[in-house]
Amino acid sequence: MSTSTMTSATRGTWGSRLAFILAVAGSAIGLGNIWRFPIVTAEGGGGAFVLIYLLCAAFVGLPVMLAEMVVGRAGERNPVGAIKHLGNGTKWRWVGGLGVVTAFIVLSFYSVIAGWTIHYMFSAGVGKFTETLDTDAYFIEMVADPGKEMLYHGIFMIAVILTVAAGIRNGIERTIKVTMPILGVVLLVLLIRSLTLPGAFEGLAYYLTPDFSKVTANTVLQALAQAFFSLSLGMGAIITYGSYLQKDESLPSSAGYVVMLDSAVALLAGCIIFPALVYANLPLDEGGPGLMFQVLPQVLVQLPWAPWGGILFGTIFFLLLAIAAFTSAISLLEVPVSYLVDEKNWKRKKATWFVGGGAFLIGIPSALSLGAVGWLTELSGFEMSLIDLLSGPFMDGALVIGALGLSLFVGWKWGLQRALTEIRQGSPDFKLSAIWAFSIRYVAPIAIVSILTFQLYSIFTPDSSPEESPEEAVIESTDL
Ligand code: PHE
Repeated sequence: MSTSTMTSATRGTWGSRLAFILAVAGSAIGLGNIWRFPIVTAEGGGGAFVLIYLLCAAFVGLPVMLAEMVVGRAGERNPVGAIKHLGNGTKWRWVGGLGVVTAFIVLSFYSVIAGWTIHYMFSAGVGKFTETLDTDAYFIEMVADPGKEMLYHGIFMIAVILTVAAGIRNGIERTIKVTMPILGVVLLVLLIRSLTLPGAFEGLAYYLTPDFSKVTANTVLQALAQAFFSLSLGMGAIITYGSYLQKDESLPSSAGYVVMLDSAVALLAGCIIFPALVYANLPLDEGGPGLMFQVLPQVLVQLPWAPWGGILFGTIFFLLLAIAAFTSAISLLEVPVSYLVDEKNWKRKKATWFVGGGAFLIGIPSALSLGAVGWLTELSGFEMSLIDLLSGPFMDGALVIGALGLSLFVGWKWGLQRALTEIRQGSPDFKLSAIWAFSIRYVAPIAIVSILTFQLYSIFTPDSSPEESPEEAVIESTDL
């Protein structure tokens, strides 16, 4: 199909620049910000890690995000079609293809975890989290219950499908305009609650005091990988969202706002979590689902105005997680859907139900892999659960390879001059063009190759961590 026939009427466009910024911010702000960032920060030297993270986000994440937006808007298509079009049908389209596949697989298990947040929202709302509840057992029972796992995974996926099926303006934009303000208000309410608890300062000090002795090469690479995941890069999500943009919008400032919003939410999430943990005298170093689903419910019962304080703040905390996951999942589903609509001429509704339904089915083994079905919990030969086996290569590996491919494509194949011409439509006085060009050509590729080398090195270096009980393994797994 030629560009001229692919009019905005058939593909859809964002109603305004604000809508685009909110949609991209919605994609970026997800489980990665709220539960992973605070943990890696506390482990990686507090304020020292935050500083390194912000540098990675600004000097690598931001340029790659701008590159994705440019490719999307210039290509006016899904990631495969856009790269094929801009690169004159070259082999580079594997970069887009990898994004489509990665987004589909990540969606399948992202939805399982998002389902837990919905379940916990209801649990908190009906006052399930009481002092006598064994929160470890509660979590383990949930993941071992196939009915509950599939029910909440299904509810979440249907909500995502209904949104995406309704199209860019009527579905995604309309939803984002409601959910993002709610997310902002909830974040603020939780922040005020946490910061006014006794012990808040101690919590903040633990979280943010710079400890440069904890900073190693590994810390820097972890900050970089976290920035890519958190900013939704390397999976074609930003290319796809960029393809629905009008030519007169400024791309650099949009990318700048998104990076700022995403980093702010990540930072604030820690300012909510650590003061609350100190207040409730709970361990500060529990990561992943253990923190969200086992430790935080213990905080809730201790909040002032019990039990209502716990019920209220617990419900809205899990609502925050659910909304953050929801707006990210929408962008994950949109990637393969736009591919089928643009490249295979499928109707949006059919494509959405097909892909969303497929991701639901593919997610079922992941949903059952944390206790419901024994052999999925401990895959023979890998000694880990299926969800863990998938999350490593797809979240850390494929995404980073995708971002590398994209930087090389823009920097060396399609060409910086063409990219700059595209950016200047809507942003005629783009002042940072030389810095951006340098980053896409050299800084980003070198940084990404370093992450990949390090990841390969750690795969082939035997793990020296002490033996865990199977229960601990379940608790610590799926460290998104
Ligand atoms: N950025 C999301 C998060 O922080 C995850 C995501 C990655 C979403 C890539 C879409 C595309 O959780």
